[in-house]
Amino acid sequence: MFPIRRNRRLRTNDAIRSLVRETYITPNDFLVPLFVVEGKGIKEEIASMPNYYRFSLDLLKEEVKLLWSLGLKSVLLFVKVDDSLKDNKGTEAWNPNGLMQRAIKTVKEVCPGMLVMTDVALDPYSSYGHDGIVEGGKIINDATVEALAEMSLSHAEAGADFVAPSDMMDGRIIGIREALDQSNLIDVGIMSYSAKYASAFYGPFRDALDSAPVDLADVPKDKKSYQMDFANRDEAIKETEMDINEGADIVMVKPGLCYLDIVRDIKNNFNVPLAVYQVSGEYAMLKAAAEKGWLDHDAVMMEQVTAIKRAGADIIASYFAKDVVKLLNK
Ligand code: PBG
Repeated sequence: MFPIRRNRRLRTNDAIRSLVRETYITPNDFLVPLFVVEGKGIKEEIASMPNYYRFSLDLLKEEVKLLWSLGLKSVLLFVKVDDSLKDNKGTEAWNPNGLMQRAIKTVKEVCPGMLVMTDVALDPYSSYGHDGIVEGGKIINDATVEALAEMSLSHAEAGADFVAPSDMMDGRIIGIREALDQSNLIDVGIMSYSAKYASAFYGPFRDALDSAPVDLADVPKDKKSYQMDFANRDEAIKETEMDINEGADIVMVKPGLCYLDIVRDIKNNFNVPLAVYQVSGEYAMLKAAAEKGWLDHDAVMMEQVTAIKRAGADIIASYFAKDVVKLLNK
């Protein structure tokens, strides 16, 4: 009780603050999302994601080496697929010589130690821009799970260490686990996007991959029939518990900042590694405000990633990973 207790003693100077600080950010916290395109010599900036790029495979090599030199040891791959290769079933997703499969091999070739995770969902391959197969105005669950299992196998065979299903179909974790195990790919892990919300923060990502749902009659306009309602909290526990029981090695909450209550709930309920995805819209917001001079970019970035870790994240998937690590190394 005051005046015996004076809490400000522990905030007097930088040395004591460092000594009692509860949360530290290191390069080991990050999973780096990477966008890949066909072609040569391509490094194109994504309009709604300043200083974030799509790379062709040759330049992806340079980027991966740079990440490794900065101490960033895990990447999460996404591909932008040509419209001519898209169909309702996302068949191109398991082409053994598809862009994703070549991207996995490219990363492993230049940097064998780099952990490679791959996004598993049909949207970049879907002519309708949905994470699943569309039939009669609906996203059909079980046939989609079969497609996702096929896709996961193909990623694993190309050398992925982890597959990361981001689609939110029911039963996809067990479907994928069984498919991997039947092919004796027992060491390939699953990072499940277990509590993924139907969020407006994914806008810039859909620009990056040209993967937004199309505006056609008989095609749902949004992803609300599979991604979670952002008003719900208990449901996140149920989703996460089921994914763990189905064999998820790592679970995830997505997006990040608006969902830190969910992050803490899950951290308190389960003993598995928890990833948080600080998504494209969160990145875009800070970049835009900083460009205007309204926010201090680096200070706000560090506050945000620290808050995500403090809330309970063991892993942070973030477009800021490189910026953060460069700042830490300064
Ligand atoms: C694909 C997928 C999305 C994101 C990751 N995987 C988009 C979506 O679900 O519509 C979003 C990532 C971001 O916004 O940074 N299923």
